[in-house]
Amino acid sequence: HRHLLGIEPLHPTEITALLDLADRYVDLNRQPHKHSDALKGLTQINMFFENSTRTQASFEIAGKRLGADVMNMQMQASSIKKGETLVDTALTLNAMHPDLLVVRHPHSGAVDLLAQKVNCAVLNAGDGRHEHPTQALLDALTIRRAKGRLHRLNIAICGDIAHSRVARSNIMLLGRMENRVRLVGPPTLMPSGIHDWGVEVYEDMREGLADCDVVMMLRLQKERMDGGFIPSEREYYHRFGLDAEKLACAKPDAIVMHPGPMNRGVEIDGTTADDINRSVIQEQVEMGVAVRMAAMDLLARNLRNAEPAQYA
Ligand code: CP
Repeated sequence: HRHLLGIEPLHPTEITALLDLADRYVDLNRQPHKHSDALKGLTQINMFFENSTRTQASFEIAGKRLGADVMNMQMQASSIKKGETLVDTALTLNAMHPDLLVVRHPHSGAVDLLAQKVNCAVLNAGDGRHEHPTQALLDALTIRRAKGRLHRLNIAICGDIAHSRVARSNIMLLGRMENRVRLVGPPTLMPSGIHDWGVEVYEDMREGLADCDVVMMLRLQKERMDGGFIPSEREYYHRFGLDAEKLACAKPDAIVMHPGPMNRGVEIDGTTADDINRSVIQEQVEMGVAVRMAAMDLLARNLRNAEPAQYA
């Protein structure tokens, strides 16, 4: 692949190969000297048109640990504010010969559009409610390391599925690796056509969590609710917030995940989020750096093998 725009085009063997390489980068990142030359001489530009802590920081750290020249565009201070379009902005940066472009954008499909206009490799860091492929890959690595496998697991994804690119990418990846995926949440926060996605749907947390190996919680993404249904946080927490009592319905060794940012006391109880025996939320962040290193390393290998006309 020239780009990483989503999980959709990835074959299970490609997912496994990327996770295997990421495992090696986890080991590197735990060394005192966390450096390799995999991206030496390459230029990486990060363009985040939407807020980010984890994804932006980990892509920057990943590029730097692999020896790339990393530049973070300050989109709030860019000429987008003067009316320049996304495509013109991309063409302008493309003329500076970057090798890797990491893009987050509030509109679904914006990153795919941009990838068609530039010569370099594009990595989707989250586009609207469409895809967040590196999040699904880091979640997969976290699950594989915690459970010793990434197949035949019962996995519950809970909360605001309708507005979640994390849920979409995870449903595709986890389904492709032959897991049983359940979605748990109010019908108002389920996407239309959900029954064609090859998942089970539950409205009751206790039923949905029964016998689960993995419980993945999602934030209410109010920024994408368009003034539509916004549940009362108290009522939502009562019915769908993960606490010790609801978690007791899952398997005794079930892990708790959350992509972040968390809203404690809304979709998850703080004590459950911090429970070091169950929560792998900080491991997810650690895996994020390694997975982004692996993704950029693999795309850079493709760039080096590509015809100069495509690359230059
Ligand atoms: N999980 C995730 O994408 O977090 P950020 O929005 O902080 O990057």
